[in-house]
Amino acid sequence: MTSFWQKIRADFPVTRRCAYLDHASAGPIPKPVAAAYEKYSRVHLAQADFSWPRWIRQREEIRIKTARFINAEPDEIAFTHSTSHGMNLIAELLHCKGKVLCNTLEFPSSTVPWLWRGAPMIFQQDENGAVPIPVLKKNLTAGVKTIVSSFVQYGTGYRQDMEALGRLKKNRFLVVNATQGCGALAVDVKRWQADFLCTNSYKWLLGGYGGGFLYVNRRWLGLLKPESAGWRSMREPDRMDNRRLDLRRDAGRYEWGCPAFPVIFAMGAAIDYLMQIGMARIERRVLELSTYAAERLEGAGFEVVTPRVAGKTQSGIVVFRLAHAAPAAPVVKKLLAAGFYVSARGAGIRVAPHFYNTFEEIDSFVKKVKSFVMTGSRP
Ligand SMILES: Cc1ncc(COP(=O)(O)O)c(C=O)c1O
Repeated sequence: MTSFWQKIRADFPVTRRCAYLDHASAGPIPKPVAAAYEKYSRVHLAQADFSWPRWIRQREEIRIKTARFINAEPDEIAFTHSTSHGMNLIAELLHCKGKVLCNTLEFPSSTVPWLWRGAPMIFQQDENGAVPIPVLKKNLTAGVKTIVSSFVQYGTGYRQDMEALGRLKKNRFLVVNATQGCGALAVDVKRWQADFLCTNSYKWLLGGYGGGFLYVNRRWLGLLKPESAGWRSMREPDRMDNRRLDLRRDAGRYEWGCPAFPVIFAMGAAIDYLMQIGMARIERRVLELSTYAAERLEGAGFEVVTPRVAGKTQSGIVVFRLAHAAPAAPVVKKLLAAGFYVSARGAGIRVAPHFYNTFEEIDSFVKKVKSFVMTGSRP
């Protein structure tokens, strides 16, 4: 490990406790994010609401950074509490617009908000854990008005070619669930021609629980009317006008009440942290680690089910099967007790390293899982 990554690793005290290889479930927070939480709590303790104007300014600075992080504009960003919250806001706008094309691999956050509203859904069947663009193209019939896709699939690690999807969509809405990529792989809503995107703060983004953001392409802000609004969705909330509806023109209209300051500040610190390292550098490192994990697992005789086309379908997630379709959960439990944090997902065990993990951790993980499976031991 180079001294650069060694230094970075010191920001993650969880590394002293275990090989933490499960950023697809939830990431740790690095020290600068913990410092942002602590600072907020100190200031709130001492100054209470005297800090309100400063906090509002700080939130707007984070809005600008968040926009830059995904190549959007600040007026296109709304802070949310989760991916599910963001997807519900999107479904609210689009569920009546025609058929929604998604696929069988999607996490429920991508589908439940649409099903709940009775939107007509088409579930494209995956092909060995992938959603190939040529097949998806065949499903783009005239009635389909919205395409919902995860950037990376949680259960197989398949990374969708979002740029290709953007080129295909024509006059349809492209809705992206970026949860399993954002923070590990570069996101560019302009290059992807995304209309909407939602994500949360607690996985690869390393910002802790309770936050997220929504991107709404500027073009739709004036044209699509939200079903929900609150006093802080108004242009001048401090007038406290309880009769007149004068909605904000920007994506801030989706923020109904007072801001979740600590969570937004933590997410802002996480985005600063990631941008200081550089998303291109992070993406390279994450892909090196996940490629290494897949190769080592295959070398040890495991079947890797994650579709792997270098530089195209790979992500930070690698899923592998145990021999004879043995259940993954008991092995995961043993791995956890042995200091390897991974999870049972999809067809087997999911390994999801971030940039501060090491090749040595992956070596020891593969050795350990092999020893458990070889001995056939069960807890
Ligand atoms: C692709 C995807 N979307 C959404 C979620 C859940 O996000 P939230 O809890 O923020 O709604 C997950 C959780 O694993 C996920 O993998």
